[in-house]
Amino acid sequence: AVKVVIIGGGSSYTPEIIEGLIDRQASFPVREIVLVDIEEGREKLEIVGRLAQRMIEKANAEITLSWTLDRRAALVGADFVSTQIRVGGLKARALDERIPLKHGFIGQETNGAGGLFKAFRTIPVLIDLANEVAEICPDAWLVNFTNPAGIVTEAVLKHSSHKKVIGVCNIPFNMRNSVAEILETPVERVAIEFIGLNHFVFGRHVWVDGVDRTRDVLASLNAGNDYSPANIVGLGWSESFLSSLGMLPNPYHQYYFQTKDVLKKDLEAYEQNGTRAEVVQQVEAQLFEKYKDVDLAVKPEELEKRGGAYYSDAACNLMDSIHNDRGDIQTVNTLNNGTIRDLPEDAVIEVNAVITKSGPRPISIGALPLPIRGLITNLKTFEQLAIQAAVSGSYEDAYLACLMNPLIQDEKRIDPLLKDLFTAHEAYLPQF
Ligand code: G6P
Ligand code: MN
Ligand code: MN
Repeated sequence: AVKVVIIGGGSSYTPEIIEGLIDRQASFPVREIVLVDIEEGREKLEIVGRLAQRMIEKANAEITLSWTLDRRAALVGADFVSTQIRVGGLKARALDERIPLKHGFIGQETNGAGGLFKAFRTIPVLIDLANEVAEICPDAWLVNFTNPAGIVTEAVLKHSSHKKVIGVCNIPFNMRNSVAEILETPVERVAIEFIGLNHFVFGRHVWVDGVDRTRDVLASLNAGNDYSPANIVGLGWSESFLSSLGMLPNPYHQYYFQTKDVLKKDLEAYEQNGTRAEVVQQVEAQLFEKYKDVDLAVKPEELEKRGGAYYSDAACNLMDSIHNDRGDIQTVNTLNNGTIRDLPEDAVIEVNAVITKSGPRPISIGALPLPIRGLITNLKTFEQLAIQAAVSGSYEDAYLACLMNPLIQDEKRIDPLLKDLFTAHEAYLPQF
């Protein structure tokens, strides 16, 4: 029997993972789920816990559910620990989005300066958690959804004593589903070769039953088909971009390849509705009103308004395949170890891997294609500097991370930007 512990269990996303675990009962025998949160999240944890309990009862699932603020007690005997936390909550996210915008930069929770500060707040917390996992349930897999997921996963692998850590994101998962729809093919028959970094991943090839359909998908993107999640604008791509690149971009690439247009759109959206964090605050308030309804015993549809929709399928598929030693291919954030020749061995990359009981075995890529080699190595350098800064607490390291980020990089504007961000997030950055 399997025990799953969900760190950040009071999240509005939790009904998704509960549904995913209930649906897989036949093949993935989870018998115990513990939702863990912190004092500030107590009320949300209660509401989500009660809803999850109703979902389990309605489905007649043989799962014992509990919720607690005592993380150490929860971890005892865990097989899987999944993390979905947001240090500083949506308030901090709003600052990550708003402050860079005010300075003329992209303001986004996982990219640019916003992503950097989210990493600064999150890395020490996740390292602590991973060390606790290593101490209390050393055989457990840590499945990390906490953003910026690639950076956080690398930081934990480098600086904690726990090594069974896998980062997950819904973007590759949702891209594969969208491509299946575009090609009108059952998703099981679609294979996409993903290469790159979290939120900077490319689909180098699309195969259906072994036939290369990459160009058909690119043509469909060119005709206006789009797979942007709820949190990102969908500006579409030009024909030249798609045909020259010859690879599938992911929606986050718009920040890098259409920076000025995205900035303009984001500013307009900001003036109308506030930042994405503020929109999400409203969606969450509505969700929690629903969750309180004692007659509700299923995952409400409104959850699909969140960018992270279907994240739980990615998480549950991963846990299921590890548990059952399936050897299927999934896209995960894992140690490079030579998979991509141009990146350091100890870098975390987002790539296809064979999922086994002993963890993910990434499928070799070799050298990165020339057109994307520069930006990927550039962003990995940024990520490494970000991790170094998060751990050292050095201003110079933080400055260097900004300098090497293609969305910031403007030398004299970094000091004022950093000043505002450090002031705003002071309470959550004890290391600086
Ligand atoms: C995407 C990303 C997630 C991110 C989410 C934000 O799906 O892959 O990493 O957390 O969007 O969605 P939200 O609804 O919070 O803006
Ligand atoms: Mn993601
Ligand atoms: Mn090709």
